[in-house]
Amino acid sequence: MCGIIGYVGEKECTPILIEGLRKLEYRGYDSAGVAVLETDSQGTRTQVIRCRGKLSNLENLLRKDQPSGLVGIGHTRWATHGRPSDENAHPHKAGQVSVIHNGIIENHLSLRNQLRADGRVFSSETDTEIIAHLIDEELKKSGGDNLREAVRRALKQVRGAYAICVLAESAPDQIIAAKNASPLVLGLGDGENFIASDVPAILAHTRKMLFLEEGEIADVRKTGIEVCDLEGKRIERAPKEITWSAVSAEKEGYKHFMFKEIHEQARAVTDTLRGRLSVESADAFLDDVDLAVADTKKITIVACGTSWHAGLVGKFLIEQLSRIPVEVDLASEYRYREPIIGKGDLLLSISQSGETADTLAAVKEARQKGARTICIANVVDSSIPRASHASLYTHAGPEIGVASTKAFTTQLAALTLVAIHLGRRTGHLSEAKASELIKELLLIPSKMSDIVGLAPQIQVIARRYGQARDFLFLGRGNNYPIALEGALKLKEISYIHAEGYPSGEMKHGPIALIDVHMPVVVLAPKGPGYDKVMSNLAEVKAREGKIIAVATRGDKDIGTVADEAILIPDAPSFLQPLLTVLPLQLLAYYVADFKGTDIDQPRNLAKSVTVE
Ligand code: G6P
Repeated sequence: MCGIIGYVGEKECTPILIEGLRKLEYRGYDSAGVAVLETDSQGTRTQVIRCRGKLSNLENLLRKDQPSGLVGIGHTRWATHGRPSDENAHPHKAGQVSVIHNGIIENHLSLRNQLRADGRVFSSETDTEIIAHLIDEELKKSGGDNLREAVRRALKQVRGAYAICVLAESAPDQIIAAKNASPLVLGLGDGENFIASDVPAILAHTRKMLFLEEGEIADVRKTGIEVCDLEGKRIERAPKEITWSAVSAEKEGYKHFMFKEIHEQARAVTDTLRGRLSVESADAFLDDVDLAVADTKKITIVACGTSWHAGLVGKFLIEQLSRIPVEVDLASEYRYREPIIGKGDLLLSISQSGETADTLAAVKEARQKGARTICIANVVDSSIPRASHASLYTHAGPEIGVASTKAFTTQLAALTLVAIHLGRRTGHLSEAKASELIKELLLIPSKMSDIVGLAPQIQVIARRYGQARDFLFLGRGNNYPIALEGALKLKEISYIHAEGYPSGEMKHGPIALIDVHMPVVVLAPKGPGYDKVMSNLAEVKAREGKIIAVATRGDKDIGTVADEAILIPDAPSFLQPLLTVLPLQLLAYYVADFKGTDIDQPRNLAKSVTVE
């Protein structure tokens, strides 16, 4: 989720790059850098200036030594491979080639080994540097005069997601840009052209934009742009006129960041699973994270808020697939009750920000007591990853809305990877079952997109019930934590009182609250426990409660009891939480939107709580 900008034209490019990066800083702020081609009578050199930290650090460096040139690229980084540091900051230079990149290269390990064997020396931990070496190598092979062709040949060797901009000293008038599964847009100007990861970065210069599609390469010069595919075939496409305001462009046209992030979930989950699953070997790989499975007697999950809900789903997954016992604790409670943990135990913390004070304290306590500490986090090299033995990163990208959405579903995806990985190693998950589950997991992102398409129906439901004073959310098994999450989302952004309950517990208390004014949101997908949930629904109906059901498409019975049925695609019960939460996020969003609350920054809440 890094920010990318490129300029080729007749103006000094450094100020244009910095101004663009400022508009992109919300995408990532671990480090920033620029590369500018400086051409004089002696020839062309690349000036690369980059450093760790916010853009202001880079601006300070540039104040002392500003590169001068008409062709340049700039980057603001959100770390995925390699911690935030000066060395890992983009651009990466290999030989005469400089590259900036947004995305994840799946086969980075094998490519790195192959390049090392060919004598290439690496100066960073990033997957991006590999691309720079590959292109430099191809450029050398072809005599150095066709950068576009060298990029094309290099990309044929790369698997994964990328949006890149490439400069070479032997090609002083051009930038080559390419895209696969990460966004990239070209801005067409008069005697100048722009490249950016997002529209806002270049909106001040042009509104004429050409969005690159998967597997396309653009040769960008001041006089024009040529686009071809990975086979080198020319592609003609007319640019679009962008009418968004600068503010709505940051949200890519969505009204709120939360709404944008709800829509990003299919992409975020794909990125989190990318390169970590193999159907053939029926296994899940956790980068370099060693869970020390053979030594693990018990797992304790600690987290706060939405991440705690992910942990509750994680317990279900890990216990069912690996048969290792799992406890789930709220981090704020955990450390004050002298937790029983030590050698042979695994503490798995979950945190989007990696900065939550309670979770951090729990990790430190468990580590001090001798437990192995692993975290699932979104922000690379934040405090919790640094305090843990190892980290498995979700690749949600920066989450701006305070109410967590895509961070939650990527946590569920990461926990599913952990559960499959453990299950295969404890021997409780057979090869056949694992490979079936992995196939289904890979189908989840497209099902998520399908559910987001139900937004108009959910908007109508939200309008119909959004005046209620209280809501009840019910779910069973691994959908119980989703009921909790649905209630939390509604509370957080609409300020309506809501409670999540296991469906079977309703009769032990909450049933007293049910009357004609109480909407009851029920998670009732097909699977184990479905019949029991249907009985619970009958109990609600008998008390005139209004039922909003999230059920499986094709379910003929649900309509007979529910007042509203949101029908979603079928999935194995292990994976259902990845889907059932989406309608609840949308419901909370639309209720809050009708109420006119501050959705992205709800009152009294903070994105990351660094006090206990
Ligand atoms: C705050 C946020 C929640 C988040 C919780 C845990 O309360 O408002 O959205 O779930 O912290 O944050 P973490 O970054 O540790 O996942």
